[in-house]
Formats: sequence, structure tokens, C-alpha cells
Amino acid sequence: MTYPTSVKLVDVGPRDGLQNEKQPVPAAVKVELVHRLQAAGLKNIEVTSFVSPKWVPQMADNAEVMAGISRHGDVCYSVLTPNMQGFEAALKTRPGEIVVFGAASEAFSQKNINCSIEESIERFRPVAGAALAQGISVRGAISCAVGCPYEGDVAPDRVAMVARLMKDIGVQHVGVADTIGVGTPVKVQRALEAALKHYEISGVSGHFHDTYGQALANTLASLELGIWQFDTSVAGLGGCPYAKGATGNVASEDVVYMLHGMGIETGIDLDLLIDAGKFISDALGRKPHSRAANALITKRAA
Ligand code: HMG
Ligand code: MG
Repeated sequence: MTYPTSVKLVDVGPRDGLQNEKQPVPAAVKVELVHRLQAAGLKNIEVTSFVSPKWVPQMADNAEVMAGISRHGDVCYSVLTPNMQGFEAALKTRPGEIVVFGAASEAFSQKNINCSIEESIERFRPVAGAALAQGISVRGAISCAVGCPYEGDVAPDRVAMVARLMKDIGVQHVGVADTIGVGTPVKVQRALEAALKHYEISGVSGHFHDTYGQALANTLASLELGIWQFDTSVAGLGGCPYAKGATGNVASEDVVYMLHGMGIETGIDLDLLIDAGKFISDALGRKPHSRAANALITKRAA
């Protein structure tokens, strides 16, 4: 077994991270966070989502945030688009990638996007087609790939089924998401292997929430399968409004610390990433939810 020599991280903090904040976060703060992430070397940033502002009020400033970013030519800015209405609004803001988000659990699909898995694919089909026609990359998220807050354990065949459906409609890449962070390494490997039945290794990434403290172990287990792309969230921000109690994604700082310690390249400057995490945590009035960041901040002060 050999680990990948370099890893691509998508920082989902501005979207997955901030979507769950109860207090409104000003668009200017979100823009500054994106600027700090790109200054730290992130080449992929999930900025916002084009969903109903009634469902997720925190993302209502999507167009304002996208318009406020000073873009770098080598950075891909992604946005979530659940349907054509979201895609049409997103298109005006020139995203580099759009994300359709489905689930391996029927109950979660209903709670999160108000339709069945099958209906969601029919909503995603024209979105994927229109994005590809415009030269915009299309990623798909498969939520509840190991467990669901409503249905409990989720079998790997459900992940394989959704991966196949996404592949059929032209989705280029799928993220295997442990929405509520219940997965453990071997279960996560089974879910990734299910997605790998339909996608090449370069077409599959890991998206692990850290509710049960398993996300770093799950990241390592994914690396063992050769997976080299992950969604992570600066300062461990976040959670899903439709998965009560679920905490944020694995902190980007913790993943970068682990990868650099293993000699795996990320292109990210950990110090600047920690500053970005400190910036947003200060704005939210709390400490970064990252063990590595807090340890290194303490060390700096000493
Ligand atoms: P719906 O009610 O089924 O949609 O919602 P509809 O087509 O029947 O429209 C109803 C109303 O919503 C209408 O407004 C539409 O205009 C509006 P009204 O006439 O009542 O004033 N609407 C929209 N507005 C703005 N943007 C849109 C849009 N579409 C309809 N795109 C919908 C369906 C998907 C929109 C809704 O269920 C929704 O917004 N859900 C929010 C889902 C969400 O953002 N969840 C969190 C992100 S996913 C996540 O975090 C998981 C992930 O991180 C991976 C993981 O960890 O698992 C990706
Ligand atoms: Mg998520």
C-alpha cells in the first residue's frame, strides 16, 4: 500500500461551514474568509449555495458573496445548485463548478431537498446537462453514505445505486459524504468502494463530518484506498441544518497537519490556513474547532 503523494482539498467552510450558523454572518466576512483561504493556497473553495432562502437563510447572500470575491485564475469556486432555479441564479455568478446534492437515504433526501432520490436525479439531470454545456464542472454529493439520522445504517449498495444514477446523468465526480459523522474507517472504505464501482479513483472524494471524532481516521482509511480528494472545513465549521446534532466537517487545519506530517503535498500554507480559521472563529466569537490549529496558536503565543 502506498499513499498518494499529493492531495487536493476543497475547503467547504464558507458553504457547509457557515450554512448552519444561527446568527447572520455578513457577506463581507464570508468574502474575507474566501480571500484568506485562497491566500493560504486553497485552489478549490466551496463558496455558497443557491438554495431556497426560506430553507437556509444563511446562504441568501449567495450572489453578493460570489460578486465580492477577487478571483484568482487558478482557483475553482464551487456552489451548490439543487435544481434549475438554483443553477440559473448561480450561472450569473460564474462558478467554476456546481454541486448537485443527493442522498443514499430516502428519508434524508425528503428532509433535505423535499423530494425522493429518484425525483432528485430528475431535477439534477437538466442542471448537469446545462452546466456541462457551459463548460462548468459538475460534482455530486452523496449524503448519508454510511448512516442517516432518520434511517440508521446505510448499506454500501445504496451508495453504489446513487453513484450509478449520478454517472448516468453526466455528474463527473462524486463526494461520498458522512453527513452525521457516524462512520468508522472500514465502513467508510466500503462506501467509497461502492462509489468506485462507477467512478475512477480520480472521480471520488471523501466528505467527512467529525461528529464522533472519526473524520481524521476516515480520511486516512480513504488515503489507503488511493482516494486523494477531500472536502474539509476551515476551523471545523459547520453542520447540516437537516441533520440535527451533526457537527462540522473535519477541520482543514487537522487534515493539512496530518498530510504534511506524512510527506503528502497539499500546496497549502498551514500557518496562513490557521490565520483564516482564527479570522472566522473570531468573527463567530469562538475558538477554532481544530486541535492542530489550537495547538499551534498556543505554541505561537509561547
Ligand atoms: P421545494 O419546496 O421542493 O421547491 O424545495 P419548489 O420548486 O417546490 O419551490 C418552492 C419555493 O422555493 C418557491 O418559492 C421557489 O421559488 C423556491 P415560493 O414560491 O414559495 O416563494 N425555490 C428556490 N429559491 C431559491 N433557490 C432555489 C430554489 N428552488 C426553489 N434553488 C429545495 C426544494 C431544494 C429548493 C429546498 O428543499 C431547499 O432549498 N433545501 C435546502 C437544502 C440545503 O441547502 N441543505 C444543506 C446543503 S446539503 C449538505 O449540507 C450536505 C453536504 O454537505 C454533503 C453531506 O455532508 O452530506 C452537501
Ligand atoms: Mg456536509
